[in-house]
Amino acid sequence: MLFFIDSADLKEIKEASELGVLDGVTTNPSLIAKSGQSHWDLIPKICEICPGPVSCEVLSTDFNGMMKEAEKIAKLAKNTVVKIPMTKEGLQAVVKCTKQGIKTNVTLCFNSLQALLAAKAGATYISPFIGRLDDIGQEGMQCIREIRDIFDNYDFETQILAASIRNPIHLRDAALAGADVATLPYSILNGLIHHPLSKEGLEKFLRDAEKIPKI
Ligand code: E4P
Repeated sequence: MLFFIDSADLKEIKEASELGVLDGVTTNPSLIAKSGQSHWDLIPKICEICPGPVSCEVLSTDFNGMMKEAEKIAKLAKNTVVKIPMTKEGLQAVVKCTKQGIKTNVTLCFNSLQALLAAKAGATYISPFIGRLDDIGQEGMQCIREIRDIFDNYDFETQILAASIRNPIHLRDAALAGADVATLPYSILNGLIHHPLSKEGLEKFLRDAEKIPKI
């Protein structure tokens, strides 16, 4: 399973990258707005920190506008991925990007049939939003399980990118369901390292190590 960080904060991305287990980055307009920078300035900086896939979302909603932005995003760095919302125009843009060899991440996916459409359009990634489904009382993880089954039935190459992950249980269940990628807020990624028994166990080993005879 690949780990992406869901962030537009350069400090967080750098720290996550230093952990050595970071495979890519996803951003969205809300995260970019929080950074206080324009995505045109920010994305190249992120791409320098992380050599893996870096998703940047188009802001246009019409086909021509999306394509113009997609081509510009693709030229920002060699590891950019164009994030495109699941709409009719978005789907058409994904088909065209696929033909042009531009990598895409279809965002705002909330059921397995939307994912099937994205795969047929040739999307590189499909991003089902687990947490936002849970928020409205629908089981987000069920969406991941269905997509996995459908993609395996037809050998689609589109990668399932579990998004809107709000806690470590979401990550564990997405991994069990066979999601190819999980995009994680930095707090969750960093928190995975810690367990009270790891800390307690290490403290005891270090106390006992003091009793080992020195040569
Ligand atoms: C993914 O690409 C999205 O940026 C993100 O995971 C959305 O998460 P949220 O629902 O917590 O905003």
